[in-house]
Amino acid sequence: MRILIVGNGGREHALLWKLRRDAPSAEFFATRPNGGMAALCEPVALAPGDVEALAGWAAAHRIDLTVIGPEAPLAAGIVDRFEAKGLPVFGPSKAAARIEASKAYAKDLMRGAGVPTAEYRTFSNLEGAEAYVRERGAPIVVKASGLAAGKGAVVCPTEAEALDAVRSMLGALQFGEAGREVVIEEHMEGEEISVFAVTDGAHCVMLVSAQDHKRIGDGDTGPNTGGMGAYAPVSLATPDLIERARTTVFQPTLAALAADGSPFKGLLYAGLMLTRDGIKVVEFNCRFGDPETQVVLPMLDSSLLELLATVAEGGSLAGRRVRQRAGAAVTTVVAAGGYPGGYQNGKTIRIPDSLETDNLMVFHAGTEQRGADLVTSGGRVLAVTALADSFSVAADESRDAAARISFEGAYHRMDIGWRERARLEKKA
Ligand code: AMP
Ligand code: GLY
Repeated sequence: MRILIVGNGGREHALLWKLRRDAPSAEFFATRPNGGMAALCEPVALAPGDVEALAGWAAAHRIDLTVIGPEAPLAAGIVDRFEAKGLPVFGPSKAAARIEASKAYAKDLMRGAGVPTAEYRTFSNLEGAEAYVRERGAPIVVKASGLAAGKGAVVCPTEAEALDAVRSMLGALQFGEAGREVVIEEHMEGEEISVFAVTDGAHCVMLVSAQDHKRIGDGDTGPNTGGMGAYAPVSLATPDLIERARTTVFQPTLAALAADGSPFKGLLYAGLMLTRDGIKVVEFNCRFGDPETQVVLPMLDSSLLELLATVAEGGSLAGRRVRQRAGAAVTTVVAAGGYPGGYQNGKTIRIPDSLETDNLMVFHAGTEQRGADLVTSGGRVLAVTALADSFSVAADESRDAAARISFEGAYHRMDIGWRERARLEKKA
């Protein structure tokens, strides 16, 4: 079997790692693989966004399964291009990817399907948006509707901040096209979890719940990042709660997408807020989350490949279930000094030989092999995942292993999973 992975970050390294365990004899290819992926696959010298060229390459190289990591190629229609060539591919069509690529579309779909989410209105004219902010008052949340690399949501504690946000989006076009339309929504309160379902468009196979840590600093302080760590499972997400998420969020959303003529096949990611009034959707993503994938896949004992291949080939997931391992996984991201602001690439990375074991994985994100050296090539450099029988051991091991990796300016959080730790300590 010949498998192509599109993307080259920590999420894609984790996908490659898991699929190789599921199919040790398969041949693997990846687009411009990072320094960790390069040892595990054949490189393809095309960018993940080079949709047309990738479809041609996959056809010429008789690829049996392509797995798309990032949202941008999905929103650009990579799946439609592969399917037009009869190539099995895991991911949603361009139309279905709107669930992430257009927050306005996602909100309207949820409203129509009765899926619980924050009250909202959509605007493309500045005066209307300003009037709505004044009418609703603060706190309020302003979001660029389009793809904005995770930076398009502004939680505004004051009306003045909300007015600034709509002006920077609709007036100054700070997010370019992505912010020509904005969603203004009610501020919700509660703890957030990430829930992934592999879906054939009608049936869901739920994966273990996770929680990520978006802020740069300990205690969830400082600016937002792409994610500084994650853990799974989240004890708040009881089997009962996951089942409720499946029936009240995932199933009605998939039914609405299908009714809209855009059935969603792939990985549907719901960011859920556990509010006093129950589960509410913060956002949907049309792909695996990063860094959640670096804990969700190590927790998966059964085959991921079987699920992805079934969906890519148009099969049904009816009655399928996954087997999770016991215990917990925690990942700590090691970032470049200065991130999420300016930082330098090209720093030599040292990972002790004895660090990686069956229960300790170093997933690469922004790394590159330069001659004999592994060097940094991005803001988030590595994700260090520990598996253990308990959350607290996994968290300690992930943090301690992250501290043993060195490069100039290396930074990592010390408190990944602090909410879980506090919950467990309260129980004890
Ligand atoms: P999004 O890009 O929609 O995922 O939003 C990014 C982050 O902003 C979320 O992870 C939340 O922490 C926060 N956020 C988004 N929408 C809301 C909301 N309606 N109420 C409170 N916080 C929100
Ligand atoms: N972890 C958040 C995301 O992947 O969008």
